[in-house]
Order: sequence, then structure tokens, then C-alpha cells
Amino acid sequence: MLEKFDVIVIGSGPGGYVCAIRLAQLGLKTACIESRDTLGGTCLNIGCIPSKSLLNLSENFHKAKNFEKIGIEIGQVKLNLEKMMKNKNKSVTILTKGIEFLFKKNKITYFNGVASFKSKNQVHISHKDKKEKIIESKNIVISTGSEPVNLPGIKFDEKKIISSTGALSMQSVPKKMLVIGGGYIGLEMGSVWSRLGSEVHVIEFLDHITPGMDKEISNEFMKILKKQGINFHLNTKVDSITKSTNKVVAQTSDKEGKKKNFECDVALISIGRKPCTQNLNLNKVGIKLDEKGRIKVNKNFQTTISNIYAIGDVIEGPMLAHKAEEEGIAAAELIAGQAGQVNYDVIPGVIYTYPEVAYVGMTEEQLKSKKQSYKIGKFSFMANSRAKAIDETEGFVKILVNDKTDKILGVHIIGPHAGELIAEIAIAMEFGASSEDIARTCHAHPTFSEAIKEAALSVDKRQIHS
Ligand code: FAD
Ligand code: NAI
Repeated sequence: MLEKFDVIVIGSGPGGYVCAIRLAQLGLKTACIESRDTLGGTCLNIGCIPSKSLLNLSENFHKAKNFEKIGIEIGQVKLNLEKMMKNKNKSVTILTKGIEFLFKKNKITYFNGVASFKSKNQVHISHKDKKEKIIESKNIVISTGSEPVNLPGIKFDEKKIISSTGALSMQSVPKKMLVIGGGYIGLEMGSVWSRLGSEVHVIEFLDHITPGMDKEISNEFMKILKKQGINFHLNTKVDSITKSTNKVVAQTSDKEGKKKNFECDVALISIGRKPCTQNLNLNKVGIKLDEKGRIKVNKNFQTTISNIYAIGDVIEGPMLAHKAEEEGIAAAELIAGQAGQVNYDVIPGVIYTYPEVAYVGMTEEQLKSKKQSYKIGKFSFMANSRAKAIDETEGFVKILVNDKTDKILGVHIIGPHAGELIAEIAIAMEFGASSEDIARTCHAHPTFSEAIKEAALSVDKRQIHS
């Protein structure tokens, strides 16, 4: 007998598990298939969570080394990497088990195995140690996520030539680490290993790091990271990598075609991620991909086959966990006959380095290219009393508003707790707020959030503290 469900969700990352829970809440009999042995996808197992855990642990290590300067004498600070990794693994296990608990609580049936389409209503599940299975449902949601892009002809051995997965579990601190690609992963993982003692060199193809980010913030970000000891080589493309027993050598060329070799102990390749579709047998059911290999969907997340939906990293848009979650909820609600939707104009982004970088809405460069006239408000953490009190004064808040209506168009923050601060702006933007609304809102003192209020005041040059 075929087991039948209302909806099958393929993949249990933040897109898939959130979608499955929402479907179950809406009364639909839901199954979720996951090929990995634990739930939670890239995000919980080898992405957001372990990286944020290591960022926190390594920041604590770095701070502890400087405690003496602020009057706390604890003797020699020593790194125990094995213990640090165990700590990181503990955070991952607690959270992945948490999803198992949520699945049980919501009566979601969980199948461990690789899913592939047998027909537009049937999914085949295979597992190396288990009997094959076919399950059936009216609707199916694909949320199979993404995987690291590699350089042509190079294989990740996850020891010397590593992806983010290897960078999250190195067993010793490499003396010299090459980071290929100055984006999210390169800068977060580069920061971790630099704090733990590696000499880190970031090789970036473009003339700036973090492409797509507001240029002023990106420039400030690189300046701060340089001060922390990270080396940058811009306008440099890695063409190939060779490996010997002890060393890895990256062959690079600059804009003029000048060649240079970089030798290191470990090379992290962080040049982007690609959608994960290879095992699904999409051709069988006629699901179409776009030119970048992402599953094509309409505004209701339906693929070219209308009862099959796709969400998260496997479709167009920023490859972010919270974007996948929002799509998971919207798709579930649409399947249940409700009006789910995602506002793509208000998806925040955060890089969890020190200091953090956070943004939502449009950059100054985007406004210029759209010929949208705007005003800018800016405020430095140097003049924020909380930042001064704890000596974390690097960075600033930048608010971009429509010069006629004063409506907030984008906010970019580099500074302490920027990732938490940005939520205020996301809510303000969802409500169509103006900078005047923020400027007239009472913000607690002394808090970092006062820098946002002051930046809003500075749109009309009436900031108080600078
Ligand atoms: P995924 O989380 O990739 O989950 C897809 C799941 O589907 C996987 O578990 C996979 O095993 C499974 N699967 C694939 N094919 C099949 C199949 N055929 N059958 C069954 N199962 C299958 N984003 C943030 O917003 N904040 C962060 O701080 C952040 N940090 C990151 C750090 C790193 C190092 C990395 C790599 C990514 C990070 N991201 C972060 C990105 C974030 O992890 C992804 O955007 C998010 O996980 C996408 O969710 P998803 O549900 O679409 O896919
Ligand atoms: P990325 O797209 O953020 O950055 C890749 C960088 O590599 C770019 O700057 C690009 O110009 C450069 N590059 C490409 N080819 C190159 C070459 N041959 N030589 C030198 N440089 C080259 O990709 P990344 O860092 O791999 O991350 C993938 C995605 O994962 C991110 O875009 C983000 O969506 C997600 N992520 C999110 C995090 C967060 O939200 N904090 C943290 C980590 C990942």
C-alpha cells in the first residue's frame, strides 16, 4: 500500500522544515524527506549555526587575550580547539534535535533518504541502509537548498582545499590560510581563523569585497578588517589551484593578466553557492530550470508543474535562511488556499563579523542607477554613548530616504550588534515609515539604537550628538 499525504516536502532546511510545520498547523497531512542524517539542512548542520557558534567562540578568545588591557587579569589565554569544536557541535546537535521535536509535536512524518520524482504525485525515497519506498501526495514542495561552487577541475578534499564545511571543522589552526572570494563565507570564516591565529589572505576577483553591498559600507568594512590583520588582494582572480603534500598553491591573474602564485597551508574556496537539483529527476516530470540552474517558479512558488512548488536557495533570490523560511510559510499558506506572500523589498542581510554589517532595502548605488533622488542621514558610533561606554565605536548608520516623501528606502549599518539593530528598520519599512517616524520615536538611553534615531535626525541635519 502506498503511503499517502496531502503534501510532501523535500529537504528539511529552514525553507523545508518551516514549510512542513506551517502545513501541519494548517491541518494538512505532511511528510518531509531529508537525505542528511539530521534535520535542519545546510543552515543548522553546516551553515548559519556552526558558523555563528565559531564566530562567537573565536571572538571570546580574541577578547580574552585583550582582557588585561581593561583591567581583568586572568593569566595566559590558551586555545583548546578540540573543546571549541565540541562546543560548536553541541549547539548544532541541540538545534537539529529541536527540529525533530517540532516535527513530532506537529505530527509530521519524517523520511530519511534521497528523494526523486517518480511522477508528478509520487516521490521515490532511497537510502543506502534502508528499503526503498514510494510515497504519494497531491502537492509537493522542493526545498533542496544549495551547495558550494568550486573552481573548474578542483575537488574539495575538506582538509587542504576546503569549502565552508571544512572551514567549520578544521582540527588545527593553519599557519597561512587563503580565502578565495571576499563574500559572506570568506569574511566570516576568514575572521574566525584569523582570530584563532592564522595569517589570512583574501583573494577577491572584483575591486571591492561583498559585491551588492552599499559601497561606502563595504569600503569601511574592508578598512576595519584590514586593521584586524586580514590581508586583501583585490582585482585578483584565482585561475587554478595545485596541491602538494604540505602546501597548496593558488595561481592567480590580475586585471592586466599579470600572474602571481599564492602559497598557503589551507585554501578556502568561497566563491558562491549553486542550487541542489541533481538527484531529483526533474526531467521526468518536466520541471524547468533557469539559466543559472535554479528551479523556475511563478509568484506563487509553483514550478512549471503546478502542483509542485519550490522555495529557498533552489530558486531565485538571496541565498539566506530567513528568505527560505518566509517562502516556506507563504508556499504552505498558498497550498492551503490562503494568501501567502513574501515582500522581497524588505529582506535584511547580516554578516556576523566583528563589527557586524547589516542592511535592508536599497543601496546608494541602486538608487543612483534607478535615477531615484534621495537624501542621506548618517551617524557614527563614535558619537553614540553606549558604544563609547564599552569602547566599541567603529562603524556608522546610513539611512537613505526618498527626498520628496521622506520614506525610508534603505538602511546600512556597520557597527556593534548591527544584526539586531536592523530589525527596527525592517519593521519600519514594512509599515512604510519615514525617517521622521524614526526620529520622533523615543529610543532608550544608552543604547546602540540611538545611533539609528540620530541618523534619522541627520537626514535634515538636526542630529543632537555630532
Ligand atoms: P538547505 O538549508 O540547503 O536545506 C536543503 C536540504 O535538502 C539539505 O539538508 C539537503 O540535504 C536536502 N536535500 C537536498 N537534495 C535532497 C534530495 N534529493 N532528497 C532529500 N533531501 C535532499 N544564511 C543566513 O540567513 N544567515 C546566516 O548566518 C548564514 N550563514 C551561512 C553560513 C554558511 C557557512 C553557509 C554555507 C550558509 C549560510 N547561510 C546563512 C545560508 C543558509 O544556510 C541558506 O540560505 C539556507 O540554509 C537555505 O535553506 P534551504 O531550506 O533552501 O536549503
Ligand atoms: P558570495 O557570493 O557571498 O561571495 C563570493 C565572492 O567570490 C564574490 O565576492 C565574488 O566576486 C568572488 N569570486 C568569484 N569567483 C572568484 C575567483 N575565481 N577568484 C576570486 N574571487 C572570486 O559567496 P559565498 O561567500 O560563497 O557565500 C554563498 C552564499 O551563502 C552567500 O551569498 C549568502 O547568500 C550565503 N551566506 C550567508 C551568510 C549570512 O547571511 N551571514 C553567511 C554565509 C553564507
